[in-house]
Amino acid sequence: MKKVLLVALLLVCIFLACRKEEPSHPELVLRYADNQSTGYPTVEAAKYMAELVKERTGGKIEIRIYPDSVLGSENSVMEQMTYGGIDMSRFSLGTLSRFFPELWTLQLPYLYTDSEHMWRVLDGDIGDMYLREMSGKGIIGLAWYDAGARSFYTRTPISSFASLQDLTIRVQENDMMSRTIELLGAEAVQIPYGDVYSALQKLRIDGAENNLPSYVFMDHNQAAPYFYQDEHFRLPEVVMISADAQKKVSAIDPGFVEIIEACARESGVYERKLWQEEENRAYEKAVQSGVSFIIPSDEDMFALKQAMEPLYHELGQKEREIVERIRDT
Ligand code: GCU
Repeated sequence: MKKVLLVALLLVCIFLACRKEEPSHPELVLRYADNQSTGYPTVEAAKYMAELVKERTGGKIEIRIYPDSVLGSENSVMEQMTYGGIDMSRFSLGTLSRFFPELWTLQLPYLYTDSEHMWRVLDGDIGDMYLREMSGKGIIGLAWYDAGARSFYTRTPISSFASLQDLTIRVQENDMMSRTIELLGAEAVQIPYGDVYSALQKLRIDGAENNLPSYVFMDHNQAAPYFYQDEHFRLPEVVMISADAQKKVSAIDPGFVEIIEACARESGVYERKLWQEEENRAYEKAVQSGVSFIIPSDEDMFALKQAMEPLYHELGQKEREIVERIRDT
């Protein structure tokens, strides 16, 4: 009898220990938007962040991820975040600099020598300074995500810088993006990310520019199989929370604000790892689907950089100093 009681007691203890501490209903659900799909590094990293937040807030805060632009294009999500309609999101720098013009400096073409160079800058004082600066308009920057380097791709064969001229190229919805492309002699057309594939198919544009994972995830490789690997932009991405959402978090427990910040930063480290894997996978998939990769010649790279040079001349004193610091980093 004693034995039976002991076993029963043990079972009760095991049951209690295994029971989750989390409340069955979160006290706050934060809606998080991403225009990429499930499986894409930024979405998977956001899910990871959501798990960390759930765990560390004892289930009181849930971050619910809405991928595939279901909450709207990046520009529309940004507007919705400023009045509190959406709580969190991940934005491309190409979108952000339209709302935070000071970010334009980080978006200059051929700014970094490679990915390591960019991460030395973003992980250091300059990266921190920009995250802080972004926190002025009712939206707070939490962490950087990787988005690799952007190159041109076209429907018809291109072999050199000269073949890019006179083409119609899709750009993000940002006038500085248009200006950059126009300096190459191409015509820029601003189109939301989700509409690029159909614009290529309907021959509205001759090409676009983006990183390899986006190119493959969005099937652009099917419509524009010539990939001119000039890597003109390195546009990192930023995880953001609205000031309104942050206030709601703080009302539940002021300590949760820091928890969310830390989880976002940890998800940033995780995303970089996923990003590298996805870049390799996307390259393999593109090759298998018959994409022609064109590596620009040294002369072409020189011509491209020369064409973009006016953007550097137009910088103010402060921006010029930041560019100097970036180059020295
Ligand atoms: C990248 C980025 C998206 C962005 C897109 C674009 O894919 O991850 O957030 O919208 O570029 O070119 O618009």
